[in-house]
Amino acid sequence: MSPGVGGLIITIDGPAGSGKSSTAREVAQRLSFKHLDSGALYRALTYGLIEAGVAEEEWADLTVRELRGLGITLESTKTGFEVRLGGRLLVDELRSVEVTDRVSLLAGLPSVRECLIGLQREAGSGGFLIVDGRDMGTVVFPEAELKVYLIADLKERARRRLLENGREVFDDTDLAEEASALEERDDLDSGRAISPLKSPPGAVEIDTTNLSFEEQVSVIVELVNELTL
Ligand code: DC
Repeated sequence: MSPGVGGLIITIDGPAGSGKSSTAREVAQRLSFKHLDSGALYRALTYGLIEAGVAEEEWADLTVRELRGLGITLESTKTGFEVRLGGRLLVDELRSVEVTDRVSLLAGLPSVRECLIGLQREAGSGGFLIVDGRDMGTVVFPEAELKVYLIADLKERARRRLLENGREVFDDTDLAEEASALEERDDLDSGRAISPLKSPPGAVEIDTTNLSFEEQVSVIVELVNELTL
């Protein structure tokens, strides 16, 4: 068990569009664990700054105290955590294009990482958590009992993202555009100096390119069951 934690912590990291959040949510449901989508916190801060009218050029100068002042909180529910801004529940706002286009920039700032690490660790304090993100196994929960690193071919990730966004019909140009947007975010996430996206030491790497959703969920559920046997 992780030190100071009353139960298992399972981390799932990987690049954009690798299916982390949907997989983590389903695995958590099947095992009656809680799920935390850590990306939602970075998205909430981005949304909060846009809403407060803080210009992007000023983001790098914000202090941890100023960022905390935006009032991002995690509220525990039966199945996971709700992300709130000044008490207001955020859901659809987090997925807007304005947020998606700016969140990688914000996530590379040291003050932002410092502001959010405590919230994530607190969410893990009761254990029985499946958490997904980019640095869950490397930085936030390095003592997790199971670390998973999900990868998939860029083109397949782009296809899944378009489907997720409700696009039923798309051609090679749409796919290429989505792939290039994903690649740009991957480069920002893995090239940054602080908490870059990378496979954690000791992680089980799973390439989901040719796996169905059900298969990738089952593989992880099996791995967790092996831990608890
Ligand atoms: O998983 P996502 O697309 O919701 O993540 C949004 C952004 O937040 C993404 O650019 C990477 C960043 N992020 C991060 O830096 N660390 C995390 N643990 C989770 C997300």
